[in-house]
Amino acid sequence: MLLRLHHAAATALLLLAANPGASARVWAAPAGAADTASASPVAAPSGGPTTATADAAPPWSPPDPDSLPDTPFGRTVRYGRDLITRTVTLIGPDAKDPAMRYTGNGLTCQSCHLQAGTQQFGLPLAGIWGLFPQYVGRENEVRTLEERINGCMERSMNGHALPLGGPEMKAMLTYIRYVSAPETVGQALVGRVVPALPLPDRAADPIRGRKIYGEMCAACHGADGQGQRLDAADAAQQGKRYQFPPLWGPESYNDGAGMARTITAARFAHANMPFGTTWQSPALSDSDAFDVMAFVNDQPRPHKGLLENDFPDRSKKPVDAAYPPFVGPFTPEQHRYGPWQPIVDWMKAHQGTAPLSD
Ligand code: HEC
Ligand code: HEC
Repeated sequence: MLLRLHHAAATALLLLAANPGASARVWAAPAGAADTASASPVAAPSGGPTTATADAAPPWSPPDPDSLPDTPFGRTVRYGRDLITRTVTLIGPDAKDPAMRYTGNGLTCQSCHLQAGTQQFGLPLAGIWGLFPQYVGRENEVRTLEERINGCMERSMNGHALPLGGPEMKAMLTYIRYVSAPETVGQALVGRVVPALPLPDRAADPIRGRKIYGEMCAACHGADGQGQRLDAADAAQQGKRYQFPPLWGPESYNDGAGMARTITAARFAHANMPFGTTWQSPALSDSDAFDVMAFVNDQPRPHKGLLENDFPDRSKKPVDAAYPPFVGPFTPEQHRYGPWQPIVDWMKAHQGTAPLSD
């Protein structure tokens, strides 16, 4: 385990050193693959493809914003990319103009949307342009891409919505459209969101998770989960506060974020962490991923108000949403730690749905 960590950590550090804010240009998507399940509540919109395999995967390369000329379009695409990677200084707590401080923590969008949102199964933003407007269970309505971005602004970034017609929102949309260019409109590339994982048949174990955290994660994210801050000069140069972002505490995502749901978080960690891991060769076992993220999500983090208003159609509420009101006869603990399969089965039997993720 330690050996694997050192290998992954070394790979990641090499990557970071070679190219800070690097973008992997190549990712793979099986030809013609469509997220056909995206219309059903089970997988909509971010439940992740349930059929993800390492099978035939012809390469797909999102275009490179740096190859664009110095025109209004090129500049807008690059500004959008920078907003994803340099969020803290452009629209976050370190923005010079206080009126521009829309995000409320130390994360960048890229902290989770890896490689500026171009990494397959690293919560990519590439490939999603043609999928919106789309039904979103959290609000039980059709949401635009702008509204979906603002969902992450208010939760993952613990901040405020960006103005819909403003230059920042326009630039993010332009970037997402640009890196989505090779897609077929309306079909999600395989590689969207994060890959599904089989649900464990026991409850996730945060005590075991704490041990895994110490062995596999603390080297970068810190024994106290607060990440590793850059010094002022590096922070200004890289446009972000952290070399390794905080996983809990005041600078991390709030309790209403997708990452605060342990199934979503375990899928992300399994496919992407320790940093440098790819979904084809995960370093964590399935149960390690659930246990470690159960531990992480047990730690204190900012609170989002009015969470009881989420998922107004309760039959759409993901089984791992750890805040009330809950659907069915299960304890809050079972929603938080699992086992989730009995909840999925109950919801199927009583409501005809089985929401695993929003
Ligand atoms: C703490 C991690 C985290 C951060 C930081 C974050 N997001 Fe997200 N984002 C997620 C997760 C997890 C999802 C998947 C949906 C879910 O289950 O909520 C998501 C989904 C999305 C989607 C929809 C993707 C799809 O396939 O439908 C968009 C667009 C998005 N985020 C944009 C952003 C932007 C822009 C930022 C920065 C302002 C940002 N996010 C910051 C975790 C994060
Ligand atoms: C080699 C260093 C390294 C190790 C080890 C590592 N991570 Fe990360 N992790 C990162 C980096 C770097 C990012 C942000 C990516 C970026 O900014 O480009 C990240 C992002 C994350 C995020 C989303 C952002 C946030 O702050 O919430 C989660 C969750 C996460 N890691 C969990 C884990 C878990 C769980 C482990 C242990 C199994 C782990 N990481 C091990 C470097 C590491």
